[in-house]
Amino acid sequence: MTQINYIQEIAKFGLMNDTDSLLKSLNELIDFYKNSKKNNLALKLQSVIKDAKQYQGKLTKVGSDYYFQQRNEKEISELVIDKFRSEYSLKDLIADKILISDLKQFIKENQSVSLLQKHELPVSNKLLLHGPSGCGKTLASYVIAGELERPMYVINLGAIVSSKLGETGKNLAKVFKYASQEESIIFIDEFDSIGKLRDYNQDHGEMKRVVNTILQLFDFLPERTIVIAATNQEKMIDEALLRRFDVNLKFSLPGEEQIKELINLTLRNSKFQKPADQELSTVIKKCKGLSYYSIQKTLVNTVKKTLLDNLENKKVDISVNFKVWLELIEKEKKALKVGHYPIKCVS
Ligand SMILES: Nc1ncnc2c1ncn2[C@@H]1O[C@H](COP(=O)(O)OP(=O)(O)OP(=O)(O)O)[C@@H](O)[C@H]1O
Ligand SMILES: [Mg+2]
Repeated sequence: MTQINYIQEIAKFGLMNDTDSLLKSLNELIDFYKNSKKNNLALKLQSVIKDAKQYQGKLTKVGSDYYFQQRNEKEISELVIDKFRSEYSLKDLIADKILISDLKQFIKENQSVSLLQKHELPVSNKLLLHGPSGCGKTLASYVIAGELERPMYVINLGAIVSSKLGETGKNLAKVFKYASQEESIIFIDEFDSIGKLRDYNQDHGEMKRVVNTILQLFDFLPERTIVIAATNQEKMIDEALLRRFDVNLKFSLPGEEQIKELINLTLRNSKFQKPADQELSTVIKKCKGLSYYSIQKTLVNTVKKTLLDNLENKKVDISVNFKVWLELIEKEKKALKVGHYPIKCVS
């Protein structure tokens, strides 16, 4: 079937008020988009269905199985930001050799669960990613999901960490139970938010309870479910909790070699060319102290500016404007106070 066939079916069933067939066709179209690597379109359609389901004025018998299933799904959707499949792979992430090798090992282990189980060896499935902002922690979680071809549940820790006594642990347990129904990845971003519970309760009782719940959830985590937690404030995390992670990956600001790789990666599918060698090495030196994210931002903005200036001046030059780039790097450093104060790198 082609895209137009699916759209025709959707229009037909929509006009006929045939909800079941309409949903079936929509789901087929989502699969079609996923198979043709149009992930964004698939995600958008999925969330349209999700939203519509919430507001569907369908009468449901209170106490029926359907009623409890609906209630459960509504609760879970408030705790999970997103569930998606990732197209990222290891070639999208730049890091030092040690980090890449540890990451590969983690992926390999989780691709070989049956083999490890056969030899009664434990599977490392709890991973902590820490380091400064904009250095690839979230990106690494997408890479793992893409390499392992597993769905990823992104947990909304802001919504889960509740000031209501006892609620946070319960919420976390609900999400873990739901996600563990399939081979999946649970991604908890801003894991340090758990430390904020200290502020809600003077004697730290609630935080201890939540930490205990997480310790239990970790202990009983099925070997085919992966938990990835990310933080840029590792020091805020409870010691006992830190010890429970099987693998601890430290992300750092890029060195010259990584900056070079990042520039190549960013320009890999573009017509724009790098500045000449000497200019490029000046740029690379100037970028030191900035995160991958900031460097990429200055490059993308330079490319945009070069393109628009060329259009205005009717020029056809497609090399990245060196002077503009240097200016943007300086601006970024100033905004982040890099070089004026020591770079805050909590690890
Ligand atoms: N190591 C990296 N390799 C390639 N690109 C990177 C890397 N780190 C960051 N980027 C680029 O910067 C973007 C933002 O990075 P990411 O969200 O992974 O940072 P983070 O470490 O999770 O930051 P934060 O702590 O603020 O959440 C990525 O989508 C990617 O475009
Ligand atoms: Mg992040």
